[in-house]
Amino acid sequence: MNKQNIVLIGFMGTGKTSVGKKLAPKLGYRVIDVDLHIESAEKKIISQIFSESGEAYFRELEKKAIREISRQKRVVITTGGGAVLDEENIKALRENGLIVALLASEETIYERVKKSKHRPLLEKEDVKLEIEKLYRERAPLYQTADLKFETDGQTSAQVADKIFNAFKRSNFGGLA
Ligand code: S3P
Repeated sequence: MNKQNIVLIGFMGTGKTSVGKKLAPKLGYRVIDVDLHIESAEKKIISQIFSESGEAYFRELEKKAIREISRQKRVVITTGGGAVLDEENIKALRENGLIVALLASEETIYERVKKSKHRPLLEKEDVKLEIEKLYRERAPLYQTADLKFETDGQTSAQVADKIFNAFKRSNFGGLA
């Protein structure tokens, strides 16, 4: 059976959400952002969930959301940077989805996220150090994706084009 969904994984600031928005219309797909799905279900923004209930609770919500969203067809699913930490998440997403990692150097990530106000994990004194720590832990997990794309120096439209072409070339989605 062809896998129909495209799942974007990657560190914070690799452009998953903006690339997803550009990619979905090219395929005639809907885009579902896991964080937005959680926010509308909880009627709270992510940073509020973290501050009121903690990261572990957020991870439970994330897992539940991923289970639900993975059942849908013909969707581009954009995940939060930490979704890869739980291997059951990736297993669920992979059932019907091609896992695509967006990669970026630590320097690029820092430049892209330094002014961000909505990333609770980066509300630290030393943001660079925190990125370094999380990056070390997570980089190997992003490498397990079916396809990987470097995003340094690229616009989200360019990255979306590359993913679209690779998806068309593959047997995934029945588009080939
Ligand atoms: C997280 C990334 C965020 C969001 C939450 C946790 C992470 O999403 O899910 O703040 O653990 O890396 P983005 O990757 O879209 O910033």
